[in-house]
Amino acid sequence: MPRARRPEGTITRGKTAPNRLRRVDRWIVRVHGPELRRQERPLVVDLGYGASPITTVELFGRLRAVHPRVEVVGIEIDPDRVAAARPYEREGLSFRLGGFELPVERPPALIRAFNVLRQYEEAEAWQAWDRLCAGLAPGGVLVEGTCDEIGRRAVWVSLRRTTGEPPARADVPAARGPAEAGGPWGRSGRWEQSARREPGGLRDAEGRPEAAGPWDPSGRGESGSAREAGDRPETAGPWESGSAREASRRRGPGGRRTVPRPRDGEPAGVPQTITFAAHLPTLSRPSDLTERLPKTLIHRNVPGEPVHALLTAFDRAWASAAPRSVFGPRQRWIAAVELLSREFPVHTTPPLGGRGRWRLGEVTVPWPAVAPRPGGL
Ligand SMILES: C[S@@+](CC[C@H](N)C(=O)[O-])C[C@H]1O[C@@H](n2cnc3c(N)ncnc32)[C@H](O)[C@@H]1O
Repeated sequence: MPRARRPEGTITRGKTAPNRLRRVDRWIVRVHGPELRRQERPLVVDLGYGASPITTVELFGRLRAVHPRVEVVGIEIDPDRVAAARPYEREGLSFRLGGFELPVERPPALIRAFNVLRQYEEAEAWQAWDRLCAGLAPGGVLVEGTCDEIGRRAVWVSLRRTTGEPPARADVPAARGPAEAGGPWGRSGRWEQSARREPGGLRDAEGRPEAAGPWDPSGRGESGSAREAGDRPETAGPWESGSAREASRRRGPGGRRTVPRPRDGEPAGVPQTITFAAHLPTLSRPSDLTERLPKTLIHRNVPGEPVHALLTAFDRAWASAAPRSVFGPRQRWIAAVELLSREFPVHTTPPLGGRGRWRLGEVTVPWPAVAPRPGGL
């Protein structure tokens, strides 16, 4: 009999709570519900559900409301937690022992991994992104993030499985306002990050460019299409092969290779967006969310790094929007996001953006706006 493979990864704290992941689930349903609905029997994996399977059960209920045949599998690396989850199994919902190798019969259309990678080293988190994306169905999505104990503050990144096509241009929305000296704009007056495209671009499950904002209905994005001589060379953060990330993933933390690479060459997935979400009445400023940054960014919140520039600008916008507080924190947040969108390429149209999303205390920006600088640390 073949020996069962050891699950890839490490058992970590199993802390969880009912309704903790409501913000990301609401976003998944709104943003990815339509593409799940187009599939006959989509498979969704909840990786690392913790000591109780409650958030997996909730995800199942929320997805079944939009697709009656969706199947959800909760995967945990701790056998005791799998045993504790068994009584919750029902048609379309099951639990099993496993890790980053994803022990499922068919590749999932979507993986949610929440509060799992924060307890790994940064290099391992980059490797896990790659490993998990390699396990997705073509065009599938990984939603990886972190939140506080009761889900009032959350930050998540969505990544799309690459399909092996030649790299496409990223669709980076242009900031809407005038260039500001000293801001994230280049000397050319273009947003500096616009030169930092990701292979694959923003694509939906069928590989079509995802709905773009008002900056360019073609989905190509003006800022993504032009790079002047003198702009920075086209290299991205550690997601790119040939970068510091490549070196660190060869090495692994402490010189070990802890998570096997899915394959050599191009990454298996491309980060698309990052979303910040908060319970606004208890938020003192947008940078309160820094403590919830995913592991791949948490050490990058330092001057000179894009994520730091974004959050600093967001705090400035929040301060400028203070007079709107008389109408409540939602109105202040909406005004601050509108100000931010003059400087940074915020998603401004549904499903990723617009006032309907912002009033929920959310904002989504394209990943290149926060991608770490190559060799930044
Ligand atoms: C803090 S709990 C998060 C629970 C739940 N997702 C939440 O957000 O409330 C993290 C869980 O992930 C599990 N875990 C860590 N690495 C894993 C891996 N590689 N594969 C599967 N589960 C993993 C841990 O055993 C732990 O139970």
